[in-house]
Amino acid sequence: MVEPLNVWDYERLAAERLDPGAHGYYAGGAGDELTLRDNVEAFRRWYLRPRMLVDVDASTTATTVLGQEVSMPLLVAPVAFQRVAHPDGEVGMARAAKAAGTVMCLSTIATSTPAEVAAVGGPRWFQLYVFRDEGVTHDLIAQARDGGYTALVLTIDAPVRGNRERDARTSFAIPDDVRVAAFGRGGVTPKQVFEAISASLTWRDLERICAESGLPLLVKGVLTAEDAKLACEHGASGVVVSNHGGRQLDGVSATIDALEEVVAAVDGRIEVLLDGGIRRGTDVVKALALGARAVLAGRAPLWGLVVDGEAGALRVLQLLQAEILSALQLVGCTSPADVTRDRVAPK
Ligand code: FNR
Ligand code: LAC
Repeated sequence: MVEPLNVWDYERLAAERLDPGAHGYYAGGAGDELTLRDNVEAFRRWYLRPRMLVDVDASTTATTVLGQEVSMPLLVAPVAFQRVAHPDGEVGMARAAKAAGTVMCLSTIATSTPAEVAAVGGPRWFQLYVFRDEGVTHDLIAQARDGGYTALVLTIDAPVRGNRERDARTSFAIPDDVRVAAFGRGGVTPKQVFEAISASLTWRDLERICAESGLPLLVKGVLTAEDAKLACEHGASGVVVSNHGGRQLDGVSATIDALEEVVAAVDGRIEVLLDGGIRRGTDVVKALALGARAVLAGRAPLWGLVVDGEAGALRVLQLLQAEILSALQLVGCTSPADVTRDRVAPK
């Protein structure tokens, strides 16, 4: 095998390794997958505007997110069911994130427990889904707090499941022997997951969740100025501009196209992150220029995990970090904070 050089190589190799059900679940999106594709394509509609003769010899990718030091402005997004991708699962992903010096955001729908991932000892956030059964939600928040997770990421774009036809065609279900921690068993389907999640959550619930957890709360799934303002007003410490990797409502804008509107509405009050379609270091620099503090990557490290477990996930994170550094230097910036709005223009 030729050594994979970039995320696309890992994506191709992962597609070869996975069975059709798991591949459809991981790679797929909702409806006609317009948003899934646009997340990636939209980055190509922005040019970089490099400045020359800047001393970039000591450039660094290091930055902080919610006050936490990270090696680069790229964190690992919450992705469900990682032991279906590779037996290393979420623990392997967390080890890779730790070795890369960045945050692992653990999904509520994980195949490892919050305690198992906490034992890795790396920087960690917990992605929260609020369940219909309040007892489950209280228990998840307690596990995040007790496990030393330093932020909660409340996902707000999935009150119901998006229309994912690939899963319907393959009848995708988690194998019986892969235990989903929050359900206490294997054999779970994505449909069952979303049936257990509350469809009644509103902005009023935010303060309550902040108070209960005592942790900073990021709201994941904001695409409009209106909701960005509400997030600020209801006590969020940050928003993640996200469309769930094109898996929820098809036909919404690519996240990079929604970013500026959200950044303007937030007006510096809280941090703005972005996910969706990140495949290259240059994508990250474009997001920074449009006002993101950092990005999260979902499928990119996941393809690494599929191909070579923990080592593959780490390699993808290292490749992306090297690409981010190179893009920063070539655009004439010495750090993520140095990337200003003038470094991009629309095509
Ligand atoms: C996700 N995502 C997700 N988000 C979340 O809040 N909780 C979850 O359990 C999951 N699970 C999940 C599974 C799979 C297979 C994918 C691909 C995505 C969404 C994820 O956090 C993120 O928003 C997107 O993955 C970003 O898009 P990219 O980086 O995959 O293009
Ligand atoms: C998904 C969930 C679990 O996107 O968030 O499949």
